[in-house]
Amino acid sequence: MSREVVSQISYLAASVLFIFGLRGLTKPDKARRGMLLAAVGMLVAIIGTLVKTEVVSYGWILVGLVLGSLIGYPLGMWVPMTAMPQRIAFSHMFGALAATLVGVSEYFTDLSNGETIGIPKMSALAFEVLFGALTVTGSFVAFGKLAEFLPGRPITYKNQNAINLGLAAVAAGLFAYVVFNPEASWAFYLMLALATLIGLFLVLPIGGADMPVVISLMNSYAGLAASATGFAIGNEVLIIAGALDGASGFILSIVMSRAMNRSFTNVLFGAFGSAPTASTRTSEGLVAAPISAEDAALQLAHARSVIVVPGYGMAVAQAQHQIRELAELIEKNGGEVRYAIHPVAGRMPGHMNVLLAEANVPYDRLYEMDEINDRFEEADVALVIGANDVVNPAARTDPGSPIYGMPILNADKAKRVIVLKRSMATGFAGIENDLFYAENSSLLFGDAKDSLQKLIGEIKTA
Ligand code: TAP
Repeated sequence: MSREVVSQISYLAASVLFIFGLRGLTKPDKARRGMLLAAVGMLVAIIGTLVKTEVVSYGWILVGLVLGSLIGYPLGMWVPMTAMPQRIAFSHMFGALAATLVGVSEYFTDLSNGETIGIPKMSALAFEVLFGALTVTGSFVAFGKLAEFLPGRPITYKNQNAINLGLAAVAAGLFAYVVFNPEASWAFYLMLALATLIGLFLVLPIGGADMPVVISLMNSYAGLAASATGFAIGNEVLIIAGALDGASGFILSIVMSRAMNRSFTNVLFGAFGSAPTASTRTSEGLVAAPISAEDAALQLAHARSVIVVPGYGMAVAQAQHQIRELAELIEKNGGEVRYAIHPVAGRMPGHMNVLLAEANVPYDRLYEMDEINDRFEEADVALVIGANDVVNPAARTDPGSPIYGMPILNADKAKRVIVLKRSMATGFAGIENDLFYAENSSLLFGDAKDSLQKLIGEIKTA
């Protein structure tokens, strides 16, 4: 069998594995297997590429393999789950950088060899470089905002939209020009420079709270750039993997923008997240009611129906195992426990699902926001564990709030609300939460894991 045939068969196998991998990710109980299938697919694709006859020497590839493994292994194994969004933004940056460099190198080599670049290839190269370069800087800003070395607030400036539109129009003009005049390298490199600026200007005005949508959008752009790379260099698996990446990132952006009540057109053009009018809400004069672990345990032990609302604080405290243990005790007492999962709870899509799955919480107890929101009214207790923004009623009532319009979990409608948090500190969006001061709410202060441990102890000894 020739090397080319081996390569083609590997590519086909890899593509099938990618598709099954993605399919697995749609169900929490199949997600791990899905990830494994996709990883095996990637390995098969790499092997299929290494056997290609175009590979002239393995020296640099080996260096890349060692370096990549040295960087990738710690990134995968040791970066905590709570830092996953910035890690993902960071790796998108490198994926997009690779696509951009391949595009530049292919263009440069073709021009230097005096080859004529046809319109289809030039379109793919220009597309790859345009989207690749803007993803590099856009992902860098998203990474910086999440890692907090750049300010999380929207950085706005005068005529921002006009400047962005102007830059995009000039870049589009250069794109069209270079497609029909491939030898005009000035246009190609100017477009590349403008794309890096567009990436910066697109993400800087977006607030930290909108970064999840930005990251999945950047994921989609990086996928499209990779797919274009595949067209430009005639690599089938890159076309397929890039298209899958681009499409899934795009769909995730739509789902998330809906969950955060952002218009999709705004998401597409990156003009979302512009600062709303300032909220006038403060907590002055409001008093939150603290509760002891003993009293909270009493309420939970007698509750018929409890809805747990996990949030970012659960991830910080790594309290998922204690939640499951507490739920089992409540169930032993005859109560029913369900989990309400907000699509953007935590710091990345599926954050809560992954942690609860790790603690073996049964999947059929997990309810998405739309499935459970009407059930809060009949719940005896809503147990809010390290969640804040996703249960903030200001999203319904305060038009000046940065999260106004974002769908929230109706925890405030439960008969009693018990909130586990360490202080009166705000959540990711940095805004006050009236739920904590509501008449039916009480706060059990402390690290969520410690508080849950106390609740478990109280119920056991009761
Ligand atoms: P947040 O609004 O961020 O609130 C988390 C709360 O957890 C804080 O109020 C904090 O209060 C508490 N907390 C932190 N550590 C704790 C610990 N060890 N024990 C107990 N409590 C602790 O969380 P959320 O409700 O999950 O909302 C998520 C927010 O992140 C949204 O604004 C969303 O837009 C944004 N975001 C989401 C994503 C995705 S895709 N999920 C990605 C990026 C950003 P104390 O400090 O007082 O304890």
